[in-house]
Order: sequence, then C-alpha cells, then structure tokens
Amino acid sequence: MDKIWAANMMSSENLPDLSYHWMPFTANRQFKSNPRLLVEAEGMFYTSVEGNRILDGVAGLWCVNAGHGRKRIAQAIKDQADRMDYSPGFQMGHPGTFELAARLAQHLPRGIDRVFFTNSGSESVETALKIAIAYHRVRGDGGRFRLIGRERGYHGVNFGGISVGGMVANRKMFGSLLTGVDHIRHTHNLEKNAFSRGQPAHGAELAEDLERLVQLHDPSTVAAVIVEPVAGSAGVLIPPLGYLQKLREICDRHGILLIFDEVITGFGRLGKPFGSEYFDVKPDIITAAKGLTNGAAPMGAVFVKREIHDAFMHGPEGAIELFHGYTYSGHPLACAAALASLDVYESDGLFTRAAAMADYWEDALHSLKDAPHVIDVRNIGLIGAVELEPIAGQPTKRAFSAFLDAYENGVLVRTTGDTIAMSPPLIIEKQHIDQLVGTLGEVLKRLE
Ligand SMILES: Cc1ncc(COP(=O)(O)O)c(C=O)c1O
Repeated sequence: MDKIWAANMMSSENLPDLSYHWMPFTANRQFKSNPRLLVEAEGMFYTSVEGNRILDGVAGLWCVNAGHGRKRIAQAIKDQADRMDYSPGFQMGHPGTFELAARLAQHLPRGIDRVFFTNSGSESVETALKIAIAYHRVRGDGGRFRLIGRERGYHGVNFGGISVGGMVANRKMFGSLLTGVDHIRHTHNLEKNAFSRGQPAHGAELAEDLERLVQLHDPSTVAAVIVEPVAGSAGVLIPPLGYLQKLREICDRHGILLIFDEVITGFGRLGKPFGSEYFDVKPDIITAAKGLTNGAAPMGAVFVKREIHDAFMHGPEGAIELFHGYTYSGHPLACAAALASLDVYESDGLFTRAAAMADYWEDALHSLKDAPHVIDVRNIGLIGAVELEPIAGQPTKRAFSAFLDAYENGVLVRTTGDTIAMSPPLIIEKQHIDQLVGTLGEVLKRLE
C-alpha cells in the first residue's frame, strides 16, 4: 500500500525531502527550515505530523465551510471514482454537471441561473472576464473591452485576475499584464472606520470613483467592473454601507456588467448563500470556487444571468457558442463532491449558520481591541480581521510572527500584510471561538 502520512510519523529519516516542491505563496526557505505539515483533519481541527491538534481558524483557505472530514462528501467522491473516473466535457457530458448546475441555481439570486464550471477561483475569474467581453461582442457592441477592478482587489493569480486585481506584490513581477484595465480606489479607511462592527459607516461615496473612470475612458468602451463584495486576501476589507448599491447604479447607468467575485463570500460565509443576497445587490455575473466542494476537490464555477447566456445562443445550431473551457471543467469527482457538499450545507443549515454565530464572533473579536499592537478589528458574517501596527521598516513581519506563534499554540490563522484574517468553518461553536480569540490574545501579548 502507498504510504499515507498520519500523525506522529515525523522523524528526520521519515520526512520526505522538502527541496523538490516549490510551494505556492510561501516563504519556501523559512518553511523548509521549520515545516508545518498537516496530515489529518476532522471537524474544526487539523492534526499536524507531530500529532498536535490545530484549531482551524480559516477553513483551510476559506474553503472547508462544513468542517473537515465530512463522510458524505468523501463517500460521494469514492463512489464516483469507482463508477467513472473522467469523462470529456467538450461536445460530451455526464449527468453530474447538469444536476449540479440545477441545484446551484436554487441558491443563486433569481435570474442568475446559468453555470459554467472551472477548477479554481482564478479560472472562474478569467472565465467571467472573457464572458463579459464576449457578451458585448455577440450583441454587436464589441467596442466594450475595458475591465475595471479595484485597488487591493484579489482575483486569483492568472493574467486577467492579476490585471484587474490590485495587490502590488502579485502584479509587479509579471510585466505589462492585460491592457485596457483600470482600477477604482479601495475603501479601507482606518481614520474614519477603525473598529467598525460589520459594514463601516463611511465611504459609500468612493463608488463615485467608478463614474470618474467610466467618464475618462468613455462609457461605451467599458465591458465590466469586478469587485469582491468583501475583499478577503487583501486583508478583509468590508464594503461601506451603500457602496455596493452605488456601484450597481453606476454600472446600470452605463450598460456595464457588474461581476461579484464571491470565491470567499459564497456558500454561507456571510450567513446567506451568497454575498449578493446578504448585501441585497444583484450583479450580472458571480464567480465562485472554494466552498463549492467544501475544499474536497478542486472546482470553480461562474454563474451568469440567463440573458447573458442566451445572448450567445445564436447562429447555426451545430456551432460552438463560446470558445472557452478546461479539460477538467465539471470533473465527475468534483461534481460528486459539490453535490454532496450542497447536501451537507442544506441539511445542516450552513447557508445561514454564520448569521446565528455572527454576534458572538463579533463580540469575541472586538475584545482584542486594546491588545498590544492592534490598530483595527473588523468583522462581517464569519469573517474577522485584526490589523496590527507594522514594525517600522519591516512590513508584514509582526503579523507573520503572530501566525507562527498561533500555530505553535494550536491555532491556524492567516495573515496578509499586517492583518490577521480569520474565516473558520461555519460549524464553529462558541468554545472554538473562545479558544481562537483567547490564543490570539496571548499571542499578541508576546509579540515584539
Ligand atoms: C476573491 C477571490 N478570487 C479568486 C481567488 C482565487 O482562487 P484560487 O486560489 O482557487 O484560484 C481567491 C482565492 O483566495 C479569492 O479570494
């Protein structure tokens, strides 16, 4: 039998050679000198290779919304692998994709009910941007090619995504990126909004920046605007009250498509199936991934308004309508995982559970307000962030030290810049919140 890593198996002879794998978004040399290897997961906890239990404060990477080790999901993947491993998705199909698309449509905002499958959030973003540009073209409006993103936006790592994204470190190494892209200002404002609970009061007027850019480029050239309803990877930036509504109004005024990147806000993170419903703003296209399969198999999806889909359904019936897709679009194993995840979300009430826990979560996080180095605490749904004063001349170091210390003490969080971000599985109980925040409080006291 192949070796399966389990707890307490680490010893210097046993450990694989770490040098071959170039790890993503990782300080490779730091990691390899002091590895953090996880081998088991159940409910709210990981187990490290040393046998330590680690409370999962980030749902893996914002994806394991129903908690770890869900037997129903594992069984569905196993059953599908036994029945049929793979089937081609071009000019062929398998029933799982159709069933899944129909099931997903039940949880989406009314009218957004056509589904294109991908394998990740990054691919969902590329797909959405391409659909947006192509949509205008098939309607005879091919002059609309510009894409507008936002500073500090994160839309994955492919060229479209980093072009509309606004995280400098993710962009600066990679040349000229896509042309025809511009960015509105971000909404993060600690002077006015520090320690907000839920949506900040100030900043709706920043949406007017979109009007400025649209006028600069001429509205007739703009295809789409893409934003995360809540930006996660750039440090948990919560939209000011009224801001998303204003973006919608401006897009409507100029015939521009609005794309919500819901890769982290989808599947119950805010206490509704999607952020669009939570904020009561309906975009034209929604991108998703992560929670779609509870993290158990790679899969993403793009949800589009029916009229956008229908605009492509012209021309000879035998002709391909959209020259786009991936070998693994709608992979049978991922479909099985997603269908079983929907079963679990529905039967366990997880699409709305974040709403029930949000007040306790908020109070617990804000108890860190006066802890050392803390310059902001913010929260929405089951998302939270603690922003730290950076060490002068060494940005990111303080938060990264907090991450390492928390991990050593049995709690997994994530950091971006000098912000500690948290997004636990939606099955979290009060005692887990107490452990998470209690450990973080101790960590903050120890930080330099
Ligand atoms: C809003 C958003 N879009 C896109 C992505 C990219 O997803 P993936 O890493 O699956 O490509 C992420 C990942 O964190 C995300 O948060």
